[in-house]
Amino acid sequence: MTQDMAENRAEEHPLVLQATALRQQLNHHNYRYYTLDDPEISDAAYDQLFAELLKLEQASPELKTDDSPTQRVGGEILPEFQSVTHEQPMTSLDNAFERKQMTEFERRIVERSAVSPVEYVVEPKLDGLALSLLYEDGVLVRGATRGDGTQGEDVTANIRTISSIPLCLIGEQIPQRLEVRGEVFIAKADFEQLNRQQSAKGEKRFANPRNAAAGSLRQLDSSITAKRPLSFISYGVGLMQGGASYSHYNQLMEQLAHWGVPISPELKVVKGVAACEAVYLDLQQRRSILRYEIDGVVYKVNDFALQELLGFTARAPRWAIAWKFPAEEATTTLLAIDLQVGRTGALTPVARLKSVEVGGVTVSNATLHNEDEVQRKDVRVGDTVVVRRAGDVIPEVVRMVPEQRPENTQIWVMPQQCPACGSSAVRELDKAVVRCSGGLFCPAQRKEAVWHFASRKGLDIEGLGQKLVEQLVERDLVQTPADLFLLKLEQLSTLERMGPKSATNLVESLQKGRSTTLPRFLYALGIPEVGEATARSLAHFFGDLPPLMEATAELLEQVDDVGMVVAQNIVTFFQQSHNRSVIVALQRAGVQWPKIEQQGAVTLPLTGSTYVVTGTLQQMKRAEVKAQLQALGAKVAGSVSTKTTALICGADPGSKRDKALSLGVPVLDEMDLQQLLESDY
Ligand code: IVH
Repeated sequence: MTQDMAENRAEEHPLVLQATALRQQLNHHNYRYYTLDDPEISDAAYDQLFAELLKLEQASPELKTDDSPTQRVGGEILPEFQSVTHEQPMTSLDNAFERKQMTEFERRIVERSAVSPVEYVVEPKLDGLALSLLYEDGVLVRGATRGDGTQGEDVTANIRTISSIPLCLIGEQIPQRLEVRGEVFIAKADFEQLNRQQSAKGEKRFANPRNAAAGSLRQLDSSITAKRPLSFISYGVGLMQGGASYSHYNQLMEQLAHWGVPISPELKVVKGVAACEAVYLDLQQRRSILRYEIDGVVYKVNDFALQELLGFTARAPRWAIAWKFPAEEATTTLLAIDLQVGRTGALTPVARLKSVEVGGVTVSNATLHNEDEVQRKDVRVGDTVVVRRAGDVIPEVVRMVPEQRPENTQIWVMPQQCPACGSSAVRELDKAVVRCSGGLFCPAQRKEAVWHFASRKGLDIEGLGQKLVEQLVERDLVQTPADLFLLKLEQLSTLERMGPKSATNLVESLQKGRSTTLPRFLYALGIPEVGEATARSLAHFFGDLPPLMEATAELLEQVDDVGMVVAQNIVTFFQQSHNRSVIVALQRAGVQWPKIEQQGAVTLPLTGSTYVVTGTLQQMKRAEVKAQLQALGAKVAGSVSTKTTALICGADPGSKRDKALSLGVPVLDEMDLQQLLESDY
């Protein structure tokens, strides 16, 4: 029985009426959620309606309909997939890889049709699998894969479990037979979660969202598919019998959306190749932030009459083309695994690769993140590996190709010593990161360390940019931050892009930098995980440097914001004799700060005050603001009261702001907050 038939019986029985009403509501909310991306009710409210319908259907099974939203759980186990012959072949698309090929595409259309400029509908090219959905009288009766284009597989039981595929269409003028075509895919975030679940269950992780979608769709047991986060977006119609006719593709797509079929929110109508290129560049730029993987942009002639005139070649329509993005993944050979030393000594395994083109650029190095990742991926020198470079992100080695592993490869083990200075490499408690314990002594850390020391939040030495620091370290003029203060005007003047005026200014800035504050100095030392807020807490707790240098981990843990790991980092840092020598040298060079009246654990600069944070902040995450305020001794509360010192208010604040105003509680914006956090207490 279908919903339609149930509606006809509705007068007969109040329960039928109730079930019909619930189904209508659920279908409506599905439409709001999946098609319009604009839900009217919360997930919990939806779940409640769903539970109500389920209860009703369980109590009176005769109320169940095939197209009921409750019928998505799967369970049918097939011996094999039945073959389906597509009434209209599911063709492929021609590809373009550069603008010239797009211009050619348009030229051919103009030649054949004399229409110019040509109007196109543009959609992202989703990287999933093609699917055909057959609706009869608005009810989903069959789902089939593309197969070879002529014959596919019947995956009805599986696709019925996909929430974004309507089991019945809603609205007016629904054709008697309608074949909706589109792409099944797994969104990026869902894919990450799925792989986390796979790892947790000790099962194999999927290589990419597309493989995961393909594997999920081809399950003979549909209850497995039901557990996979598949999504669907339509990009067209195959067969359509009965109902109104449509002259343009965009019109038909809008109609599909009204019937409850999700279409691309990126769909646009444009004219001419220049506009096509603008959309291409825009989507390419936004590719990494889209919720799903796309591998190009599809352009379709909008006018159906013109589509018909142009027709098809043997494999693809002449009225459509996919302008592909450069591939984000490529395979190449792993030549070596080196260690890169970061500012705080983090040793990152880096893959040296046989050069390969990925995402439009040549890549010969890629990150392997950390020891655990290398082990998890089991990549070894000599392996063929998949390299990925998405958007501006650092290229990474995604996985190795087991089939192509040569003989006699060696499992990679993390070295015990820093490759740059030989100091011992120490793995932090409960962390994946391994660090060189050489600190400021380690040459690889020097550049970064000197730059960090002089940076704005450190000693704030104006005119000492990163490039300059590099030159100073490379020419061996500076080995540790203390050497900065020994630089002579004559030495500075020999540097590239350093005129006499800039050299004089720099000497002056260095002079100014000598007088600093203890929090700044502590931050500048670059102790792993001691940021601004922690440096401030430490300074106020200990009042001066000597007691901090001698502090035990237990004592350090009493400082707000300092946990076990940070305490250990601090102890280790001050235990290194080379770090202590640098500190002595800095003080000899005249670096100094006023003592802070020691306040101990209870009295910090904001002790006794209570803040409330609301709205969207641009510069910092709310958790970060909270941590920084707490590090300064403040309490952070969830609601505004007369006890609130001030409300920190981002964009779209809501009722907390009104309440603060009515109680006369001061309201601070993000600028005020920055000032509050950055004051030299
Ligand atoms: S139109 C006759 N539009 O790309 C035209 N295809 O390489 C049929 N695809 O098999 C396809 N996004 O699975 C079209 N917006 C989109 C698409 C799209 C992804 C896939 C589809 C097709 C393959 C062709």
